[in-house]
Amino acid sequence: MTNWSDRNRRQGNKIAFVPTMGFLHKGHLSLMKEGKRAGDKLIISIFVNPTQFGPGEDFDSYPSDLEKDFKLAEDIGVDVIFTPNKADFYPQGFETFIDQEQLPNHLCGLHRPGHFKGVMTIVTKLFNVVNPDIAVFGEKDFQQLAIIRRMVKDLNFNIQIIGHHTIRESDGLAMSSRNAKLTPAQRIAGLCLITALKKAQHSVKQKETNAAAIIRNAEDFICSHPETDIDYIKICDPDTLEDIAVIDRAVLMALAVKVGTTRLIDNVTLNPNK
Ligand code: PAF
Repeated sequence: MTNWSDRNRRQGNKIAFVPTMGFLHKGHLSLMKEGKRAGDKLIISIFVNPTQFGPGEDFDSYPSDLEKDFKLAEDIGVDVIFTPNKADFYPQGFETFIDQEQLPNHLCGLHRPGHFKGVMTIVTKLFNVVNPDIAVFGEKDFQQLAIIRRMVKDLNFNIQIIGHHTIRESDGLAMSSRNAKLTPAQRIAGLCLITALKKAQHSVKQKETNAAAIIRNAEDFICSHPETDIDYIKICDPDTLEDIAVIDRAVLMALAVKVGTTRLIDNVTLNPNK
């Protein structure tokens, strides 16, 4: 993989990279199109990374369809699909991990201990092996994107990180490989995430600035839907991810909700000046 990248870079190509865990959907395809736009060659990886799943999470049941993924990636014009195996990436004796001090102590990091340590470790390994000039990540995983931007800066990776807006189903549900696990009834209930976020945006437009009041309304709204169990609803600073009390500038509203056994996340910007 590294030889391929080096050879193509020597020929004057800018190499773009989209790391994925497979079961590709339109959200991934949109990241890939962005990668093709920003670079001359596009590499994607497909690897379900065991170190970012905690005990009792869905590593064993994470959806997979490699044949379909290959077809979709080829149709987009991906140059390389990199599919390392677990034994190559985590051989016996593996014991070195990447971690961060502050950003993982918020949002999903509080509910999935060790998750971002696993993400940073695998992204570092992928960056080292793939050696791209550009990497594209989705804004649906806002905290992941913030952590990777910080990591790239702190560890002097010479890689441009591009954040790509969230791609949604026609009814607003944020695209995710995990949506495939929802029953038809849960799929409908899952819409409460984006509806709660849109209601919050509407409240801010109506001059509500109290973050706690907006969060309470979102909680009440989501709890009124069947099979929902809220992990968190937060309004925070988009750079530090620290909670904020008064919405006096553009802030992030992010939430994670289990619908049945499937954990969904979503986020929007609340901007009182728009
Ligand atoms: O966002 C994902 O799909 C994963 O966290 C990533 C970045 C591919 C690392 O395994």
